[in-house]
Amino acid sequence: MSIAGKHIIVGISGGIAAYKTLSLIRFFIQNGAEVKTVTTPNALHFVTKLSLQTLSKNNVYDDMFADVGEISTAHISLADWADAMIVAPATANIIGKFANGIADDALSTTFLALDKPVFIAPAMNSRMYDHAAVQQNLQTLAHRGVHIIEPPCGELACGDQGKGRMQEPEVIYERIAGFFLSHKKFLGKKVLVTAGPTYEAIDPVRFIGNHSSGLMGICIADEFANRGADVVLVCGPSAIKSKNSAVKRIDVVSAKEMFEVCKQHFETADITVCSAAVADYAPQQIATQKIKKSDENLSLELVKNPDILKYLGEHKTPNQILVGFALETENEMQNAENKLKSKNLDMLVLNSLNDQGAGFGHSTNKISIMFSNQIPKHFELKSKDAVAKDIINEILNYI
Ligand code: PMT
Repeated sequence: MSIAGKHIIVGISGGIAAYKTLSLIRFFIQNGAEVKTVTTPNALHFVTKLSLQTLSKNNVYDDMFADVGEISTAHISLADWADAMIVAPATANIIGKFANGIADDALSTTFLALDKPVFIAPAMNSRMYDHAAVQQNLQTLAHRGVHIIEPPCGELACGDQGKGRMQEPEVIYERIAGFFLSHKKFLGKKVLVTAGPTYEAIDPVRFIGNHSSGLMGICIADEFANRGADVVLVCGPSAIKSKNSAVKRIDVVSAKEMFEVCKQHFETADITVCSAAVADYAPQQIATQKIKKSDENLSLELVKNPDILKYLGEHKTPNQILVGFALETENEMQNAENKLKSKNLDMLVLNSLNDQGAGFGHSTNKISIMFSNQIPKHFELKSKDAVAKDIINEILNYI
């Protein structure tokens, strides 16, 4: 994987892991990227300016008020120059500043001025990392599209064991190089995503629906757009907003409406991901007036809705990729495998309501990914943002 020619800002805050950032800079330079470093004052207790200058072959930006040329707006010119920024190590303090819009040093002002992809590699004691304040700040940043390179478990500088040591430079490098490669592969690709529930009207007041919030599909659409794809999101009723304004969102209510919009956009889609929880049945008649309470029982005649995914599977051409979801409560693997085959899918994402934190009603999900004639891949419980990344990385490997 190469990031040759890319302009990378390496931000460093004050943690012992800063010594590893020197290797990260070397990886970037050896692979043809250009690097400029930005530090907090505390970072320079751990690495010297001379080392950073020598390895990056550029001046270090460490002082907002240094009397050098156009330095007073250096954070703006740096932001214009950069293709991406990685902050490694990212301390609890700098994470807090980023999450709360505080701009009182060279690194935090550069972060605020930057409208390019930002990666952060947190590093701190595990108790600090687990603190609700730090976790909330990380969630805020992830929600705004910052890529969090999670610390692995292991021995910390203080001797404790736990999650908090900075990810290794090779891993950070691969993640960023992978991002640019993925961006190149998805750039301009047309992607269709379905999300959310459908509501099937019974009368002007009531409907048949389900618990889908839309979050899973919205995260998938956002992540495709982050990677340069041209995304149409067909979304059932959901209060959740898309984070990436480049996503073309079409809000629908019923399965039939979702079906009509999908048919319009499917033909030109290179990749389609159906994560919507579409109602399989709808009332045969929609009462024009609110149904009044009368007898003890009320029977509704339901008729089958179109199976959108099945229709798309029947109409797909060999160069189109079609990904379906399966939400199961029993015989998960067998049911999922049947859906993969019977709907003519390239890939199937299985989530089970038997797994805690998976499915709907959570900001997390736990999935398995299946391709035909391959052993399924099982993933751990993660935020739906992270699950969307895993799904798209699997699609990337497939195309
Ligand atoms: O929205 P969230 O709260 O984040 O929750 C996410 C989710 C649990 C809804 C999501 O991860 C998920 O599992 N979506 C699929 C839910 C579902 O309806 O599964 P299914 O096994 O019933 O359907 C199989 C596949 O066929 C799905 O891709 C579905 O979109 C599609 N389908 C189903 C019925 C139908 N009439 N038309 C369809 O296209």
